[in-house]
Amino acid sequence: MTGVPNVRQLFSADEIAARVTGLAHDIAASEPKRLLAIIVLKGGFVFAADLVRALALENVRLEIEFISLSSYGTRQQTSGEVRIVRDIEVPVAGRDVLIIDDVLDSGLTLKFARDLMQTRGARRAAIAVMIDKPAGRRAKIEADYVGFTCPDYFVVGYGMDAGHAWRELPYVGVLEPPRAGSDKDV
Ligand code: IMP
Ligand code: MG
Repeated sequence: MTGVPNVRQLFSADEIAARVTGLAHDIAASEPKRLLAIIVLKGGFVFAADLVRALALENVRLEIEFISLSSYGTRQQTSGEVRIVRDIEVPVAGRDVLIIDDVLDSGLTLKFARDLMQTRGARRAAIAVMIDKPAGRRAKIEADYVGFTCPDYFVVGYGMDAGHAWRELPYVGVLEPPRAGSDKDV
């Protein structure tokens, strides 16, 4: 069995790959054939790397930009402030934008990102996320394209971290406390 002992797999690499192909198909069917893809760092980088290549196979032409956002505040607070750590480098006025991120949780980050692109004059700003956790929502926002809907677990892998670790896992899982007396869970 592959896997890291204290990470319980929720979505396998194969399931993710199939879902990414499906998402690219849906995006190609509904969005313009030329998009400005805006990848939200850091967590969006693995999903985006797969999604942009799947979109290429669907004949969607992309320009690719990166934005790094950080949200202030803890999950317990009722409001959070989002800050631009590193901005994109191109104008978005009149462009069809696809914002790509790992998780839609409270929604504060992606609401900020979409509002920002709309304020800058984007013609459309669609959102694609690998994981949607609707139970965590605090902002009024939904993604246009969702890989998997998930309960309110803290998930890791496929770009997503816990304390700066686990982004490199090829699957999505949840952290579990190691079981006493066992070295062979999972
Ligand atoms: P938001 O709460 O929707 O603004 O999400 C902010 C960011 O928190 C996301 O882009 C992720 O990077 C991170 N995040 C939210 N939930 C999780 C999780 O379950 N695992 C790892 N990162 C998460
Ligand atoms: Mg993120």
